[in-house]
Amino acid sequence: MPQQGTTEERSLAHWAEEGRAGMEAFYALAVEDYRQIVAARDWAADLRGHARGAATTVLDVACGSGKFPAELQRRGLADAVGDLRVEIDLLDPSPFSIAEARSVLAAPFTVGAEHECRIQDLPDDAGGFDVAWATHALYAVPPAEIGAGIARMVAAQRPGGFGAIVHASADSHYLRFAEAYRATFAPDAVPFTTAEQVREALVGAGVEPAVAPIHYDVGHPDRAVIEGFLQRCVFDDSVSLDRMESEGAVGEYLAGRRNDDGYRFTQVVHVLTWERPA
Ligand SMILES: C[S@@+](CC[C@H](N)C(=O)[O-])C[C@H]1O[C@@H](n2cnc3c(N)ncnc32)[C@H](O)[C@@H]1O
Repeated sequence: MPQQGTTEERSLAHWAEEGRAGMEAFYALAVEDYRQIVAARDWAADLRGHARGAATTVLDVACGSGKFPAELQRRGLADAVGDLRVEIDLLDPSPFSIAEARSVLAAPFTVGAEHECRIQDLPDDAGGFDVAWATHALYAVPPAEIGAGIARMVAAQRPGGFGAIVHASADSHYLRFAEAYRATFAPDAVPFTTAEQVREALVGAGVEPAVAPIHYDVGHPDRAVIEGFLQRCVFDDSVSLDRMESEGAVGEYLAGRRNDDGYRFTQVVHVLTWERPA
């Protein structure tokens, strides 16, 4: 797996069939992200409240392997929306991600168009969505380009449409670990985008989002799982856990998160929601 290139290029290299084992190690812990998001608000009410007639159209931005809609399904979304059809378009630059997301989608979702592109490149003719969401999705979008990407996402909503971005804050494990990794092993890497930068980009795109923070810890007793999780967090499987523990800012960060049961990492995640102004 190539370890070179921008953060966005390394992300794309890992969101591929060759990265499946790393993806599975990552979700041994990151599965909690989706439990937390689904519990954080009444998503069925958001979908029902922004429907037009018998259907709601959704744009799933950076759909990844579909963990968010899969968790909504598991937690009874079909019953909660009743007769409503939820027509979902999938956007992701990775064809692997789009195929994975498509394979897990079930009622009440029906899959519409696929947009194999970056959020920054979403064409103008993809638009009018009742709902647009991006869940743990935009870290690899360069901070210098997040404004353009979010502007495209907001433009793709219909006036009055509902938007949601769920993203870890600068205080969260994902961002703190990425910064420590950059300082220790990859000083030229493009930084990850934070929830705070996402909020600024939304304001720049003309919306004032509500921000609801959620806090939780994730951990695992098995060192091999922790190694796979941490490597996937930064799209670099060339650095072993032993090496991470013994070098620089990464070593210091990990020392502060170790306990008798293995590791615990604290996530601070912002749920940003808005309605596109008319
Ligand atoms: C962690 S996954 C998203 C998880 C997903 N929301 C879910 O429910 O499972 C991140 C995705 O972002 C995609 N990605 C990376 N750079 C992107 C960009 N510039 N625009 C849109 N998607 C991007 C990756 O290909 C990957 O599929």
